[in-house]
Amino acid sequence: MTLISEPLSDPTARRLLRSSAKQSYEPGVDIDWDAPLVEGAYFMQPERMSLYRTPIWDAMPEERRVEMSKHETASIASVGLWFEIILMQLMVRQVYDQDPRSERTQYALTEIGDECRHSVMFGRMIDRYGVPAYGTPPQIHRLGRGFKALAGGASAYASILVAEEILDRLQREAMKDERVQPLSRMVARIHVLEEARHMTFAREEVARTVPTLSRPARAFHQLITAQTALFVTRSLVNPQVYAAVGLDPREARRQALGNPYYQQTLAWMGERVIGFLDEHGLVGRVHRPTWRRSLLLPD
Ligand SMILES: [Fe+2]
Ligand SMILES: [Fe+2]
Repeated sequence: MTLISEPLSDPTARRLLRSSAKQSYEPGVDIDWDAPLVEGAYFMQPERMSLYRTPIWDAMPEERRVEMSKHETASIASVGLWFEIILMQLMVRQVYDQDPRSERTQYALTEIGDECRHSVMFGRMIDRYGVPAYGTPPQIHRLGRGFKALAGGASAYASILVAEEILDRLQREAMKDERVQPLSRMVARIHVLEEARHMTFAREEVARTVPTLSRPARAFHQLITAQTALFVTRSLVNPQVYAAVGLDPREARRQALGNPYYQQTLAWMGERVIGFLDEHGLVGRVHRPTWRRSLLLPD
């Protein structure tokens, strides 16, 4: 057996394992899936929606904005789920070569278990809302297939961190917002709590692996991270969301990407993770235009 030799004990992994044992959720029993939805409540916070305060938004009656929030939250959740499936595969591949006695391996396996339950939870929420699991556009779905087969090392954890951090910002706010459906808030609360551990682990993996990279390897990981960030953010709101509420998807997409409120939202979602990646040399000057196109990095 060719296991990568690594220390069996690791203080961070030990702490994360303890925290997982103390506080983890089983959405199948911890969420009341049969509770009725609250009439008229938003499914996510309106200010964070892509069309907020655009001409299209202003012309919409309140009920249609609420209806659109249901589709938009389902789109974001389904893209989160898509990324969780990818990261589970990345982590399973990594663990394949690791010593199962080590605390890092055991924590990685625990995290895979968390993501597995999250994906069921997101799938179930979307089903409960009675809307499609929009997912990514087909070309990004295909790219994801290559990414999950090949990615590894620093950019795998950096990409995981980008997806986790941007969703975390959105969900941390949603879980406290009393205008938002209790089901969306509970799902957000569970996800925020468990993802805090994942982000600690991913940050440590990035900090641990980047200093070992050669200059060309680091340039490669910068490229992969920037491209993944662009694909993830561009996928968050599938244009079919707009079609579902009777809008022209092309025009709505155009207004969304040019919407200063949405640009601010994405920059707010990205600010913490970009700061971290930059500090660890994973942004790279040549990739700043890609980060700006993702709107996570403001102009
Ligand atoms: Fe998750
Ligand atoms: Fe996670």
